Amino acid sequence: MGETITLLSQREIEKMRRAGRLAAKLLDHLAPMVKPGISTQELNDEAERWTKEHGAISAPLGYPGAQNAPPFPKSICTSINEVICHGIPSPERILQDGDIINIDVTPILDGYHGDTSRTFLVGTPSPVAQKLVAVTEECLRLGIAAVKPGGRVGDIGAAIQAYAESHGFSVVRDFVGHGISNIFHTPPQIPHYGTKGKGKKLRPGMVFTIEPMINEGTWEHTLLADGWTAVTKDGKLSAQFEHTVAVTQFGVEILTHNDD
Ligand code: MF3
Ligand code: CO
Ligand code: CO
Repeated sequence: MGETITLLSQREIEKMRRAGRLAAKLLDHLAPMVKPGISTQELNDEAERWTKEHGAISAPLGYPGAQNAPPFPKSICTSINEVICHGIPSPERILQDGDIINIDVTPILDGYHGDTSRTFLVGTPSPVAQKLVAVTEECLRLGIAAVKPGGRVGDIGAAIQAYAESHGFSVVRDFVGHGISNIFHTPPQIPHYGTKGKGKKLRPGMVFTIEPMINEGTWEHTLLADGWTAVTKDGKLSAQFEHTVAVTQFGVEILTHNDD
């Protein structure tokens, strides 16, 4: 990541809206498939098929990894239970009653990225799992509500952290939201913890993701040998929700909504 935060033109924001709408529709399309008995590979394959059918490309497929990691091998991320993020779909991983699964999609449409994720309940997860998912969804809502022109990046993390910790949960530090446009991951970084009034100033035309990962226990992670899958260090649960948003002249616009 470089230093410069690009401000998008109205024309570019319209392209981000189209990509974002497609990403939201893809999650809506996958949602009814999330049932005990389906494999994460089947979810992946349907996402890949649907994305192509709609004239888009799956950004995760072949996305370069860090240092020694291979490129990401699949089209979506499927992160179940103790997996914080970047879970790799597999025919061996069959959804079971009681799982929670985050599905993270990023189609590229006309060169621009729509990045969004939700955590789904499979059957009936434990009360603490259900509470974690509900708190995490509210963390995303509060983070988005903290965005306004003239505000600061730290306002977002402060709002998320206060709410998560008030429920006894922890905020993942090692993965953050990111600027996004025709580039998947670009400045600024958007931590989901922090201090109100600190950090870079929010300006109209900035477009970034907010994607809090909230853990039942410790926020620390372990990276699996595949170079991608991040799991909680204590094996407890993790949930995540993500939207791509634009700072507007007056406030904030969620780009990854299905407005049909
Ligand atoms: N969609 C993820 C994010 O929210 C990134 C996935 S990168 C991948 O930033 F290579 F793992 F797909
Ligand atoms: Co994502
Ligand atoms: Co993202």
